[in-house]
Amino acid sequence: MGFDHRKYVAFQPVQKTDRRWPDQVIQHAPTWCAVDLRDGNQALVKPMTVAQKQRLFDLLVKLGFKEIEIGFPAASQPDFDFCRKLIEEDRVPDDVRIQVLTQARPELIARTYEALEGARNAIVHVYNSTSTVQREKVFRMDREGIKEIAVNGARIVKSYAEKQPGTNWTFQYSPESFTGTELDFAAEVIDAVNEVWRPDQGQPVIINLPATVEMATPNVFADQIEWICDKVKYREHFQISVHTHNDRGCAVAAAELAVMAGADRVEGTLMGNGERTGNMDLVTMAMNLYSQGIDPTLDLSGMAEITDVVEACTEIPTHPRHPYAGELVFTAFSGSHQDAIRKCLSTYKEGDKWEIAYLPIDPRDLGRRYEEVVRINSQSGKGGVAYVLERDYNIAMPRWLQIEFSKVVQQAAETEGGEVDSDTIHRLFEEKYLAVRPDWRLRTYDLHRTDEGVTATVEFGEQRLSGEGLGAVEAVAAAVEQRFDVSLAVEAYEEFALGEGTNANAMACIRIQVNGEPHSSAALAEDTTSATLQALLSAVAHHVEASQTSTSGTATA
Ligand code: KIV
Ligand code: ZN
Repeated sequence: MGFDHRKYVAFQPVQKTDRRWPDQVIQHAPTWCAVDLRDGNQALVKPMTVAQKQRLFDLLVKLGFKEIEIGFPAASQPDFDFCRKLIEEDRVPDDVRIQVLTQARPELIARTYEALEGARNAIVHVYNSTSTVQREKVFRMDREGIKEIAVNGARIVKSYAEKQPGTNWTFQYSPESFTGTELDFAAEVIDAVNEVWRPDQGQPVIINLPATVEMATPNVFADQIEWICDKVKYREHFQISVHTHNDRGCAVAAAELAVMAGADRVEGTLMGNGERTGNMDLVTMAMNLYSQGIDPTLDLSGMAEITDVVEACTEIPTHPRHPYAGELVFTAFSGSHQDAIRKCLSTYKEGDKWEIAYLPIDPRDLGRRYEEVVRINSQSGKGGVAYVLERDYNIAMPRWLQIEFSKVVQQAAETEGGEVDSDTIHRLFEEKYLAVRPDWRLRTYDLHRTDEGVTATVEFGEQRLSGEGLGAVEAVAAAVEQRFDVSLAVEAYEEFALGEGTNANAMACIRIQVNGEPHSSAALAEDTTSATLQALLSAVAHHVEASQTSTSGTATA
């Protein structure tokens, strides 16, 4: 048995009885730091070229990121070159801080400062791994040894910064694999680093707590963050940042709960690209805030551009169900969802609060169109089909015709086995209801009203018929009954003027019984009476032609 859960050990959460974070509500956006060009890039099958990095950097700036980790220059020559290019070509706006990663090793820190020479604002991000498993199995070091690496790194970072006073330096320390580190030890290392940097004396400091591997549910991570925030020295003088990975699929949730637990800053990547299952997705977290009426401080309104650039730079396609960005995320195929969306949208006015069933945000805010919302397949119902015909062709069907026609569309969808597009729906409608046989095309009509009712004369095809009735429809029905020896009963009809955008001015839909058999039809015409009479004639034509075909079929057989 290879698949044996007993191989795994449950994560031991911190015992916390004073947790406050569950009662917190996020009120404003955290400070964002985009790590696409470092963590995201390190995870790519084909790391980005300098041109791709530049393109992504420019996008991040355009979206409003003020802190951008641009690489690991001491470990990679392309990262070093990119860092130099940004600085030498003056491509970093004044209000943006570039961040670079380095291990806490003297020679790497030295090279990092070389890469950053001449930068206006920079964050030097130094890290070493502190987790139990890494201490014991990778480094074979005790706690003191690991703490010493961090403290030594902090000292060297500080001393190099002092030699380059022209730059506004921020120091960042990450106890890498924080989620696998005993909390008391993590706090001890953080305090030791801060004793070197002294954020209380004005040095800007960020302590970044990474879920390098996501090991437990997001509430456990929030407990860890709150525990650290309560425990560490100088807390009010430095920023706590979180950097979550998505191993359990909860990186966004973990970052959100961490902010509730006291984190000030969140690192992540656009669309969540990053090691293994990825980094925290900045797009999703920012849009989650936006959907709660909170300014995310990022402008994500050009979502198509964002996905285009990210795809071009990472060579990873966007999943069609990716929150907020995927092709299908604002689409409803289900009939009841379509109905609800259609009803909510029909009363929505610009400036209203957004309260639309099944749509957490207005797709137009991300450059999407309402046209994409309702799409038709075999799961869709009458509401969706009616919506598409009305939206794209100005054809408004009465409810009884919606019910009937949606079955026609459903059958087509089942036969094709996929989506039925708007053109096909319209073609089906034309074929089934609007098509006029030449022999039954109305040429003229004349209505003569008397006290008793209406005398109608119609000419269609080769025919010229007259009949009498209480109204025009009844009079023409009487004429047709007599001429074709059938009995007609009008079950329902509806006529309405059409809005702009069509050649015809009126449309009529009719459902009649001919010798007890139901037939529905519709017609477009210049006026409502012509449309109604044509619809009536077309419905009778269905019956007459069907019975002629079956008679000739019997004779031939
Ligand atoms: O995931 C991680 O721990 C990292 C650190 C270097 C911050 O990327
Ligand atoms: Zn990471």
